[in-house]
Amino acid sequence: MTTTLITGANKGLGFETARRLLEAGHTVYAGSRDEERGRRAAERLGARFVLLDVTDDASVTAAARTIEADGGLDVLINNAGIEERDADNRVPGAADTTADSVRAVFETNVFGVVRVTHAFLPLLQKSAAPVIVNVSSGLASLTALSDPASPAHFYPGLAYPASKTAVNMLTVQYAKAFPRIRVNAVEPGFTATDLNGRTGTQTVEEGAEIIVRMARVGVDGPTGGYFSAEGPLPW
Ligand SMILES: NC(=O)c1ccc[n+]([C@@H]2O[C@H](COP(=O)([O-])OP(=O)(O)OC[C@H]3O[C@@H](n4cnc5c(N)ncnc54)[C@H](OP(=O)(O)O)[C@@H]3O)[C@@H](O)[C@H]2O)c1
Repeated sequence: MTTTLITGANKGLGFETARRLLEAGHTVYAGSRDEERGRRAAERLGARFVLLDVTDDASVTAAARTIEADGGLDVLINNAGIEERDADNRVPGAADTTADSVRAVFETNVFGVVRVTHAFLPLLQKSAAPVIVNVSSGLASLTALSDPASPAHFYPGLAYPASKTAVNMLTVQYAKAFPRIRVNAVEPGFTATDLNGRTGTQTVEEGAEIIVRMARVGVDGPTGGYFSAEGPLPW
């Protein structure tokens, strides 16, 4: 039996990933920073609820203790993420971006990944087939954002793409440090969720595809890579 933790699983891509992995037979811990939203989602899914705010050390430590006491962890999906938006739901451009606003995005998207991974590594290292999936973004790609022929080139914000590029680097470094763990970064594609005010062009079913696939890689699967549903992406 494979036990999987998904951060930010109370809605969006995390919720859909939980649904699919439960279908595939995983025992799923649906992480949520809000008790009520999380319990409601876990109940709908038939998953186990765990209170987990990726920006809070005590919350992450408590979640790790709970899951350890229940028997451990095989798959960690670092899915929780935020994107900076202004009051009109627009991504602020470079001139309107401050250090504080970048810090807030990094606290969740980058430091959150490190905080959660650090806390759960001892559990993953006890697994026979440990896996980490870091939910990155196509906007992490330095190649795409610097290429005027790529649609991603025109994304105006600083904080979100920089945070996801950092997630990609964490992925590379964790993969080298822990060769027994399959560690990959994934780009779900532009998906209609609350993150982008439902402007995404894909469904959550389509977006969750690569997250689910990388959560299910075997011990001989790839590690240290960056993938969309179509295959490897340029860094
Ligand atoms: N949608 C896209 O087009 C797209 C494309 C590429 C990558 N992604 C990535 O996919 C992941 C999931 O995003 P989504 O599109 O599904 O967005 P979403 O529907 O807004 O879901 C984000 C999830 O993260 C949770 N979260 C935010 N801050 C948290 C914290 N401090 N601790 C724990 N959970 C927290 C949210 O919880 P609350 O309900 O409490 O806010 C929610 O459950 C993100 O990493 C995002 O960057 C999305």
